[in-house]
Amino acid sequence: MPSPVPVLTIDGPSGAGKGTVSRLAAMRLGWHYLDSGALYRAVGVAASWADLDLSDPAALVRCTFDTAIEFHDGPAGLRVLVNGTDATDELRLETTGTLASAIAAIPEVRAALKERQRAFRREPGLVADGRDMGTVIFPDATAKVFLTASAEERARRRHNQLKEKGVSVTFDGLLREILARDARDAQRAVAPLKPADDAILIDTTGLSIDEVVDRVLALVPARTD
Ligand code: DC
Repeated sequence: MPSPVPVLTIDGPSGAGKGTVSRLAAMRLGWHYLDSGALYRAVGVAASWADLDLSDPAALVRCTFDTAIEFHDGPAGLRVLVNGTDATDELRLETTGTLASAIAAIPEVRAALKERQRAFRREPGLVADGRDMGTVIFPDATAKVFLTASAEERARRRHNQLKEKGVSVTFDGLLREILARDARDAQRAVAPLKPADDAILIDTTGLSIDEVVDRVLALVPARTD
């Protein structure tokens, strides 16, 4: 019997460096990449375009099923199309993250996205980045990592990123937002943010991206078939 397509799951709170580390790991392995947060963000954007009532779970679930989400890797990097419209920039906004976090607390929305996420598992392998990749979506993953960093370090990284982009926000405001989002993601009833029992914890505080990627890749066994 052929062995299942290998999956490396990288979970953790926002700002722990998951996105960058996952993309680099996927590139070095030559594997596909799933940015599961982008799916929740895309549903958030589609809901806001349609002016949906965020307190109406049934409408949000319908929107989850109806929203077309496509990833295109091109010269301008990874672009995300939501219902055919390039929404890459809107997806990255803090407000979209907050919207995604609220929508992600609805169990039926999570269920509706489950199979879509699993469909990304294709040869030669997948790096899956999110909150519940190792616990819920790919419990049989080949290797599971949980990345953390102190809230202050995550706020500092985000602050620097935004400063480079010319966006002015205060460090204290960002720290407060990060703590609030962590609490919401960790306390929700369904698929709360927590490491899988068999995940390896890596604290990225004070580590360079390359150091983190090397540590992560050391956990992926070489394929023998
Ligand atoms: O990783 P991100 O910041 O793009 O994720 C946005 C929000 O989506 C995050 O606050 C929680 C939610 N999310 C989730 O609940 N499960 C995932 N696998 C990925 C993201």
